[in-house]
Amino acid sequence: MTAQTPTKGRVTAPAVAARKGDGTPIVMVTAYDAPTARIADGGGVDIILVGDSVANVVLGYDDTLQVTTADMAHHVGAVARAHPRALIVGDLPWLSYHVSTTETVHNAATLVRAGAGAVKLEGGRKRLDAVKAILDAEIPVMGHLGLTPQSVHALGGFRVQGKDLDAARIIVDDAVALAEAGCFAVVLECVPDAVARLVTDTIPVPTIGIGAGRHCDGQVLVMHDLLGLETRVTPKFVRRYADLATEATAAVARYADDVRTGRFPSSEETYHAADTVSESLNLYTGDAEEDARTEPAPA
Ligand code: KIV
Repeated sequence: MTAQTPTKGRVTAPAVAARKGDGTPIVMVTAYDAPTARIADGGGVDIILVGDSVANVVLGYDDTLQVTTADMAHHVGAVARAHPRALIVGDLPWLSYHVSTTETVHNAATLVRAGAGAVKLEGGRKRLDAVKAILDAEIPVMGHLGLTPQSVHALGGFRVQGKDLDAARIIVDDAVALAEAGCFAVVLECVPDAVARLVTDTIPVPTIGIGAGRHCDGQVLVMHDLLGLETRVTPKFVRRYADLATEATAAVARYADDVRTGRFPSSEETYHAADTVSESLNLYTGDAEEDARTEPAPA
């Protein structure tokens, strides 16, 4: 794995932290490879999250528990090779920060060496040792509270979190603890807007919401959801800005039809040898008469 050279003018984690309360919402989107990173950066986002949602969205798994640190480094590296201006945040996958602080720091470092400028992990006070160990290795950490998909089995499914007072208080206290530990931002996923608002008003670092309403310091969506490339499940918080799956399917169907009907490739889409070479080759294969019938007459 080769280290990526920081791009001049690249967004940094401290720059994101400094955006708290500046009045302009922070924009984060997921990307998992070089083409989607170029699209994200071209769209002017502040942060590209190489999320472990790559498991469901790209790799075809049912949940995010299937991806490893090596998988994540593979995708972080692909995003980094697009040299985006946006800050690249690499998602630490399940079990990469749960076993020991030594393993945690090594796994975070693997994502940084692949090109991430920060890492994200899920959980609150339970994960403070992991957060502190990574920060101690000089790697910025983004927190993630509310619906934490790596806890899908413990939570009993993918559902909105923090709906009652006690659960809401736990989220606020966890957010305070993450911010005090030094996280530069905290993702709030699938929590009621009142809870997100309280967290946003309470902690001194930006909150970035997904299914958390408008009272956050920023928003994040999964790239494939907003582009309409992933259409199997549409959570209510997703806004589709394009219908690329439909467009792409229609394009492939047109291509298939063109091939089957002989409209592709055309002469312009074909490499031609010099006439003398073609004639000799045609004589050799016996196609001379056939070509004379099918090639358009010279102008
Ligand atoms: O992996 C991911 O895409 C995420 C976002 C939903 C925040 O963690």
